[in-house]
Amino acid sequence: MWVGTAGLTIRKADSLEGFSAFLKRNPGLSWLVEVKGKVVGGILGSQDGRFGYIHHLVVLPEFHQRGIGKQLLKLCLDRIKSTGVEKCHIFINRDNPQGLEFWKKQGWTERADLSMASITFDAQSAL
Ligand SMILES: CC(C)(COP(=O)(O)OP(=O)(O)OC[C@H]1O[C@@H](n2cnc3c(N)ncnc32)[C@H](O)[C@@H]1OP(=O)(O)O)[C@@H](O)C(=O)NCCC(=O)NCCS
Repeated sequence: MWVGTAGLTIRKADSLEGFSAFLKRNPGLSWLVEVKGKVVGGILGSQDGRFGYIHHLVVLPEFHQRGIGKQLLKLCLDRIKSTGVEKCHIFINRDNPQGLEFWKKQGWTERADLSMASITFDAQSAL
């Protein structure tokens, strides 16, 4: 589902090993939606004690506009909020303006006051 979705960057952290480690570190913060045994949507949530983070909110195109994305976000945010962090962030690729529109519609604010900077430890990190 992730691999076939434009606007998402798939990396080593999304391998089975990386994904399993993420779920272990962040129990109860991620969700998926199944219809007749097929995964049609999902969301990953995490928190580091200061902030919450959301990754990979995806709903398959044939299930768009049915409220699934909104419901996944609510479930995930409620759980992240219950961990006690005061704020939650989402990183949105600049080549995904439609993704950004979804977040704005849910009441999230695009941050013009911040730039993001990163350093890569593992040259193989992008799958
Ligand atoms: C973004 C995404 C998860 C939305 O899922 P969805 O199940 O179609 O969303 P919902 O049906 O719950 O829509 C909730 C609301 O957002 C609106 N909305 C949905 N997609 C939107 C978009 N691309 N732009 C603007 N508004 C959007 C809906 O109209 C709805 O509005 P309403 O509450 O006024 O009725 C889905 O389009 C998707 O998987 N996109 C590709 C992956 C992606 O870009 N993810 C975000 C990464 S940052």
